[in-house]
Amino acid sequence: MTADDSTGPRKADRLPIRIDRSSDENLQIQIFKAIQSLITSGRLKPGTPLPSFREMSEQLGVSKNTVILACERLICEGYLVTQPGRGTYVSPHLPEQALRVSQRAPTARERAELLARRHPTLFQGQLHAIFNPARDKARIDFVVGRPDADSFPAALWKQLAERKIAHGQAAMTQYREPAGLGALRQAIADHLGPARGMNVAASQVIITGGIQEALNLIARLLIGPDTRVAIESPCYQGAAYVLKSVHADIVPVPVDEAGLIVDHLPDDPVSVIYVTPSHQYPLGGTLPLKRRFELLEWAWETGAYIVEDDYDSDFRYQGSPLFSLAGLDRHDSVIYLGTFSKSVGAGIRTGYIVAPPALAEKLGVLKGLLDNGNPWLDQAVLTEFIESGAFYSYLRRMRQIYQSRQRALIEALEHHFGAADVLGIEGGMHLIWRLPSYAMPAPELAARARNEGVGIYPLAQGAAEFIATDAQRARLVMLGFTSLDAEAIREGVRILAGIITLDAAEREGRGVAAGAPVGQTLS
Ligand SMILES: Cc1ncc(COP(=O)(O)O)c(C=O)c1O
Repeated sequence: MTADDSTGPRKADRLPIRIDRSSDENLQIQIFKAIQSLITSGRLKPGTPLPSFREMSEQLGVSKNTVILACERLICEGYLVTQPGRGTYVSPHLPEQALRVSQRAPTARERAELLARRHPTLFQGQLHAIFNPARDKARIDFVVGRPDADSFPAALWKQLAERKIAHGQAAMTQYREPAGLGALRQAIADHLGPARGMNVAASQVIITGGIQEALNLIARLLIGPDTRVAIESPCYQGAAYVLKSVHADIVPVPVDEAGLIVDHLPDDPVSVIYVTPSHQYPLGGTLPLKRRFELLEWAWETGAYIVEDDYDSDFRYQGSPLFSLAGLDRHDSVIYLGTFSKSVGAGIRTGYIVAPPALAEKLGVLKGLLDNGNPWLDQAVLTEFIESGAFYSYLRRMRQIYQSRQRALIEALEHHFGAADVLGIEGGMHLIWRLPSYAMPAPELAARARNEGVGIYPLAQGAAEFIATDAQRARLVMLGFTSLDAEAIREGVRILAGIITLDAAEREGRGVAAGAPVGQTLS
């Protein structure tokens, strides 16, 4: 039953209320709430006499008993009073609490704003776009940086986990070194020698919950409000948002097809520079050796720490791997970040920092203060996975699979568009496709493709931040190829080609010029 809004205030010989017999609420409660609402909203004024119980029961088509029980509750709660021999009235002195019911409950947003005013939080931040539930709607999703789920070595992982648990009672019940399991730190240090040209001790390795946590630890260690931090422009959103959240003074440095343009490094000192030299995120460039040395020299001269995010360097398809900046560094000025999110899977949430010795101990303390270290079981399984050699055969296999998927993508683009204008194909898990000049802008294409079940990512939707130019926004699309098989890749590109061709033909039919030619420079 609800108060009947269409009926204005009237003498209380007939109450403007309606009963809803399909409602889950029983009649008595409906009557109680409806009269309560009439009173608290002021439509039944204090002192107004109510119809008799008999009249109400006839009007509403309910038993008199039901009306009496509802009114008795209203009397008990102070909304109504009875006067012997004269009937039932709206209470002349409504309790304050009763009137408060009439006030609209604040919305969740209003409550949050009120709380923020009363208890301001120091943290102000945004969630980066790496986790996006809306993505699931794409049937063919060129999402960036996701390993192939079907290839995950589930049976082996289960076997290793069972074995570890069977003998791991002590480990499962105790606190351990927050910087990570000694054997895992050693396995990583051993891996980085041949893989990235780094000569590091296990004590320099701090196990983290992925690179994302590593960035937060570094921010806590080195970056406060107004600390000058240089970044690539465009750069990885997950890093940019951490920097913004600590109110760093961010200095964007442009990138081109080969990565950071070192000639544009700032003259004024910065405390930290964050870079992705193996496969620039998002544009995919591999920083040439000459620029690597120039960057290291600049950092040494200006006193900056270089934070090297080496997120997907395990996958390289052309040329021999370049030494990491950390491998070339002779002055302890590089803090190296690695992750198993791309090589094994983001779900294991395991990454690591390799810090210069002077910083490693402090980072271990920070990690301890933060969460007392990563879960033992995950670390123990991963250690065994690496030490047994399974990690390397898995990497070799995935490299082949990903390379053939990348090839399928490039061939499909060539097939439909004559030539594939692509960047960042030397390695990694995504490439950049520069749209043909006759195609609609990237955000529009992404929206249309999504309607047809295909997910593609213009920079602004692909976890990229500090996107420097309009041409980058409008003409570049990120295509991840690692979590789709070749058939899905071909089908996805065929759908994209259909959308672009149809649109161009329609525009031509209407005499509208095809997409204006766009500049080919990235910066
Ligand atoms: C450049 C870059 N850094 C770091 C990460 C995140 O790594 P993690 O899962 O280890 O936090 C990503 C994820 O896509 C990335 O693209």
